[in-house]
Amino acid sequence: MDNQCICQFVIFGATGDLASKKLLPALYHLECAGMMPKEMRILAFGRRPWDDHGWQDFLREQLETYATNYHPEHFDDFCRHFSYVRGEIHDKESYQQLRSALTPEGADKPAATIFYLAIRPADFIPVVQQLSGAGFNQEGDYRIVIEKPFGDDLESAIHLNEQLHHHFREEQIYRIDHYLGKEIVQNLMVYRFANLAIESLWNRNYIDHVQITVAEKGGIESRAGYYDQAGALRDMLQNHLMQILTLVAMEPPPSLEADTLRDEKVKVLRSIRPIPKSAVTAYAMRAQYGPGVVDDQHVPGYQDEAGVETNSVTETYVAAKFYIDNWRWRGVPFYLRTGKRLENKTSSVAIRFRHTPQQLFRETSIEKIEPNWILLSLEPESMKTEIQIKEPGLEMRVRPVQLNASYRKDGEQELDAYEALLLDVMEGDKALFIRFDEVEWAWRVVDPIIKAWGRDSDYILTYPAGSWGPDEAIRIMDKEDQYWRNHL
Ligand code: BG6
Repeated sequence: MDNQCICQFVIFGATGDLASKKLLPALYHLECAGMMPKEMRILAFGRRPWDDHGWQDFLREQLETYATNYHPEHFDDFCRHFSYVRGEIHDKESYQQLRSALTPEGADKPAATIFYLAIRPADFIPVVQQLSGAGFNQEGDYRIVIEKPFGDDLESAIHLNEQLHHHFREEQIYRIDHYLGKEIVQNLMVYRFANLAIESLWNRNYIDHVQITVAEKGGIESRAGYYDQAGALRDMLQNHLMQILTLVAMEPPPSLEADTLRDEKVKVLRSIRPIPKSAVTAYAMRAQYGPGVVDDQHVPGYQDEAGVETNSVTETYVAAKFYIDNWRWRGVPFYLRTGKRLENKTSSVAIRFRHTPQQLFRETSIEKIEPNWILLSLEPESMKTEIQIKEPGLEMRVRPVQLNASYRKDGEQELDAYEALLLDVMEGDKALFIRFDEVEWAWRVVDPIIKAWGRDSDYILTYPAGSWGPDEAIRIMDKEDQYWRNHL
């Protein structure tokens, strides 16, 4: 890595859940992969009364638990990047301490200082105000990385953005959606725009509908405080699934420059047909998991999870359909669904083609010809095309076969989404970060659903944990021959 990229990192919320599970392991994997500049400094900002040794013990424990590849031999080198700054995020003095820790005498000035806000959304603005008050938005390259949720509806997102812009310029703000760092999400663009054969079929003339699924086996773990307020629509659909939708649907951008790419994504969001107030039930449905069995273990229902109100109607499952009213997609439904405590952990884009125009095999033993599918799975990674072939034998029968273009060769490195995105922040590349108009339009799209569900809040359908969600999810589909594709 060249000198340009030598930055310093400040982690707010260094002892929190996100830092332990995602951020610290990702930084550590970068160290192991030789991608972390030796001179890079990382300041862990936290409340606990520790010195550097206390921090290092904590760090080792987190990496042993959460890093996918923990190699103890890299630990000492990794530790050298860190200093622990004990402080209180609401206390002005702490930011002065931070300032002295960031610029020790005689040290080279870093190319950029990155403040990673791995904290509760309610603390975003107080921290940003303190940083600005301490002069961290002047003279120098200061960047703020902000996690979702970016607001909890359209209005609050606009308000949050105004507050941020009051202190920092848009080019300093990196809104992260870790799904954009996933290998296959980026591969979607290569798949579409580097393959003429594929791109020429990618439109309403050939495609019947698109399904985007993000299914999780896990429940809400220790996040009831946040999740019970958010629910699946805000937690997953408004951001991760909408982002995948934009990459599936967008037009080829003129270049890969951050803004041209994001312009195309915004055009998709702006073309989504607004859901009429009176028709929300036809477009979206929600449900909540009840008790059930996941991986042979009995698990409690959502309302019995620690910290959840017993009569909570927060949705842990949402299915919705959207129409993109432009030349390429007019009339093609995009079905999106996501849920917790489902049968399997999987994220996928399943694209079903139309039926062939002629029933050529009507007079043979073939009863029905299934349409083709393109099946892109983010997790586990795979890319398949399903076609029909004739079964060997004297009779005219068909069966589906899958052409599998799964691409990772043995030994090819598997990086986590966060690693790719952290490198991008260090290099100042914003292509995979969310511009505010993307957030804003995504909120506009889901806003009618939020409002309708807010009004109608005393009953919620349930599904057994460990299932594929409520059977009723089929009802948002337009045609009788459409069904949710659970297995790829
Ligand atoms: C987060 C959500 O953004 O994504 C979580 O807040 C969810 O509720 C997680 O579990 C899923 O991420 P991944 O990478 O495990 O699919």
